[in-house]
Formats: sequence, C-alpha cells, structure tokens
Amino acid sequence: MSTTTPSTTSPAKSDADRVVIFDTTLRDGEQCPGATMTFEEKLNIAAMLDEMGVDIIEAGFPIASDGDFEAVSEIARRTTNAVVCGLSRAGAKDIDRCAEAIKPAKRGRIHTFLSTSPVHMKHKLQMDPQQVYELVVSSVTRARNHTDDVEWSSEDGTRTEFDFLCRCVEAAIKAGATTINIPDTVGYTFPDEYYDLFKRVRETVPNSDQAVFSVHCHNDLGMAVANSIAGVRAGARQIECTVNGIGERAGNAALEEVVMAMRVRHDKLPYWTRINSTMLTHASKVVSAATSFPVQYNKAIVGRNAFAHESGIHQDGMLKNAQTYEIMLPETVGVKQTSLVMGKHSGRHAFIHKLEEMGLKLSGNQLEDAFVRFKALADRTKHIYDEDIEALVDENMVHAHDRIKLLSLTVIAGTHGPQRATMKLDIEGQTRIEEAEGNGPVDAVFNCIKSLVPHEAKLELYQVHAVTEGTDAQAEVSVRLSHEGRSMTARAADPDTLVASAKAYLGALNKIVMKRQRDTAPPAQAAAGH
Ligand code: KIV
Ligand code: ZN
Repeated sequence: MSTTTPSTTSPAKSDADRVVIFDTTLRDGEQCPGATMTFEEKLNIAAMLDEMGVDIIEAGFPIASDGDFEAVSEIARRTTNAVVCGLSRAGAKDIDRCAEAIKPAKRGRIHTFLSTSPVHMKHKLQMDPQQVYELVVSSVTRARNHTDDVEWSSEDGTRTEFDFLCRCVEAAIKAGATTINIPDTVGYTFPDEYYDLFKRVRETVPNSDQAVFSVHCHNDLGMAVANSIAGVRAGARQIECTVNGIGERAGNAALEEVVMAMRVRHDKLPYWTRINSTMLTHASKVVSAATSFPVQYNKAIVGRNAFAHESGIHQDGMLKNAQTYEIMLPETVGVKQTSLVMGKHSGRHAFIHKLEEMGLKLSGNQLEDAFVRFKALADRTKHIYDEDIEALVDENMVHAHDRIKLLSLTVIAGTHGPQRATMKLDIEGQTRIEEAEGNGPVDAVFNCIKSLVPHEAKLELYQVHAVTEGTDAQAEVSVRLSHEGRSMTARAADPDTLVASAKAYLGALNKIVMKRQRDTAPPAQAAAGH
C-alpha cells in the first residue's frame, strides 16, 4: 500500500475517468421507512445537491403521488446545473407522467426500470422472459420519444440470468437508452462478482459502447460502497448513491463515502467527480435534519467521531503530525478541525495542549494537580467540556493555599432519613473525621463541617447549577458565608453535587480562616500572606 497522504489538491482529470454522481436521496432515500420529506425540504435538498456538484438529481417517482409529481416538477424548474431525473415503471402511464414532471427542466431524464431476475419475473411481475424483453423495448422507446436522456435499469440485475441480462441491455440500448444501470437491488453481490458482471456485460453486449454503465448498490451486507467502487473499476461511470447512505432497508451506497474513496485513494481509483467535497458534512446535516434520521457517530466521513480522537496515544500522535491518524484533512469534507476529545484516555500532552488552547497557563505543581483532578473527573464522567476543565483548573488555583482540605466524604441519603454524612478533613496538616445527621444530605454535610471546624459564620447563600449538559455533568455550587459583618463566597465544581457543596462551603470557610489569621498575624507575616 502506498502512503496515505491527505488529499489537498485535485488530481489530473480526463473525461474517460470522470464518474458521474447520480444522487437518489430524494427517491430511493425517501423510500426508506420514516424518511418522508416535505415539499420544502425536498426543494432545499435539491438546491444543495445542485450547488454541491451532483450531476443527476433523481427527484422522485412522479406517478407515486401528486406530492411527488409536484416536487419533481418544481425541482426541475429550479435546478440550474444538474440533470433532473424522475423514476418510472415500464407502463405507458408511468412514463408519460414522469415525462410531464421533468418537462420544466433545462435537462431532464426519464429513468425507467423493469425486473429481470427469475424470482422477480415469476412472483412479482408474473411475466415470462419474452414478455419482459418486449416491455423493455416498448418502455425505453416510449421514454425516448419524450427525451433524449433515458436510463434503463434491470431491477434485481445481480440475480438475473447472465444471457438474459445481456439480451435486455442490448435491446434497451438499441431502443435508445443512454444509461444502463445494473442494480444490486437486494444488496446481495460481492465486489469481485459485481466487477466480473460489469466487465462481462460490457464485453458481451455488442452495442455497450453506446451507453454509460451505472452502479446502484444496496447495503444489506454492508458492501454497497465496495460494490460501487468495484463496478467503476470494471468500467461503470455513474454511481447511484444517497447522502448518509439512506435508502430502502439497509440503505444505498453513501455519496460521501464513494466520493472520498476516489479522492483519498486516487492511487488505486484514478477517477474523479464534480462534487465539492467541502459541502459533504453540511449535506449530511441537512439530510439528517429533514429525515430526522440521526447520523451514526462513527459513520465514515460525516459521523461526529470521524475526525475525533480520545485515546492518549492517538492524541499525542495527532499533535505531532495529523497524518499519524488521519487519512484526509477534515477541511476537505467541511469539518473545521480535528477534535481532540478530552476523556479518560487523554494523556498529559493533550491536556496541556487543551489548556493552551483555552488560554490557561499553569505552573509545574498546579499543572500536576490539575492533571490528577482531570483524570479523576474523566474516570467518573463521559464527556468533558471546556467548562469542566475551566472549573477544575480554577479550583486548583484558588485552593492551593487552603488551610482546610476535604479528604473524603460519604453521604447516606434517600427516602428513609435521617440523612447522614461522614467526612474526613485535613485541618492544617491534621486528619480529622466526623459524622453528622441533617435535615437532608446537604444539611448533613454542612453539619459535619461545623462539628469539625466550629465557627460562627452564617450561611447566606447556597446555589447549585450544572456547568455542562447531561446527568453526568459537573455541578457547580456557590456558597456565601457571612462572618463579623463580611461575606465570603466560594464556588466549587464536581460531578457529585454533595462533594461540590462541601468543597464550596470549605472554600468560603477557608477564606474566613485565612482572613482571621491575616488580621491577627504580626504585620510582616500578614503581608506575606502567612
Ligand atoms: O434498487 C433498485 O433496483 C432500484 C431501481 C428502481 C433502480 O432502486
Ligand atoms: Zn434502489
């Protein structure tokens, strides 16, 4: 395998190596259960596909409903660059309706299809091969009377008997089809089989040079993209695909994957498309929002983890050179930048990098302490956001000179009171432990502190809020204590609200203790903060 250098420039282009992208998000994609889109959403997606450089937009199945007809017709009216295509069965009414829908297009295509496999002919069509053959000829002829751009598909092509497939393909081309699609309708084929099929059909059919061959692969065995690429290697020059790979059952080949496979591995696949790849992530989001189909996190190219690294080893590698763990630049697919996700697998290098990115500078010991806290937090929580890091660094700096430190806390809470807290504190170097009850767990925690560090300060404010989202977010607690006419406020964050409460209370108490010590110390010591 050659080296994996991310693609930054467009490779050399020849017409023979150009692969036409036929997007069927609005037809095969919309056919998948639950993906129905509104008229406006369809117009929006079509405009985006056109802008992205899609060559052919299959906008719908006009005979299916008036809504589909209207959408195809309006997309045909509005589209400026792409060919607008409508799907049609082989019947005369279907073809005529499709022709009417694409009429407003600058360039329109009729895509007509008919099953050719034994199982489909027998059970679905209830026709014999000769009848099917004749219908191929009559349907393509009728379509061709409406437009010069006609595509014919042999539905269930990969399960069709080879000689019959070749006869139908030859007849369709003779009747005027300019594109021949051999779909893997049920996602059954393997890449080597699909390669051989295209190679043999193209070699066997005498007029095969008069049509563009097209691949259309479903993903039932997870091979839609691999099969599409295999077909292209065998001479197909049109790929039928959908954004995010949505489509019937397990979906279709994903547009973003076939496009980027050809770009990133141009050494193996010396083909090119007109797609502006920097729009791929945007397109994925738009289609996901319109269909309400979430994009799987680890989806190739457009999944939110496609350019995210959490493992310490990978983050370290990425910081040294992005090529260590990325085969394409995130910008080439419209992702602003790689994200180093801070989590329990992140190492010191990534932590320091993150602090620098956030403009936080810590000295040696502070950094060590912050890193230990970060690891402890990462062990307890799934997502660590910048605010979490800010909170723990802040706490780390503020509490460096604390006289009273929390060593441990256990609280028993629940419906069967009284709530009880057990707390261990380091008070000026001495470890002390105490237990207390309270009217609720927070009260028990504060009572514990009062018996460990007796004081007169009064609680003026106790406030809790979540620093970040989710039930595993850090709780930030603010406590204000008033003592001898002065108020001291402290904040603390922790995924455990009671721990954050104890730390915030102790923070305010520390301020009072330190102030009292400063007030009573001889002037030289007070100035030095001792
Ligand atoms: O999967 C298929 O065979 C199709 C045809 C209509 C092309 O979607
Ligand atoms: Zn399909």
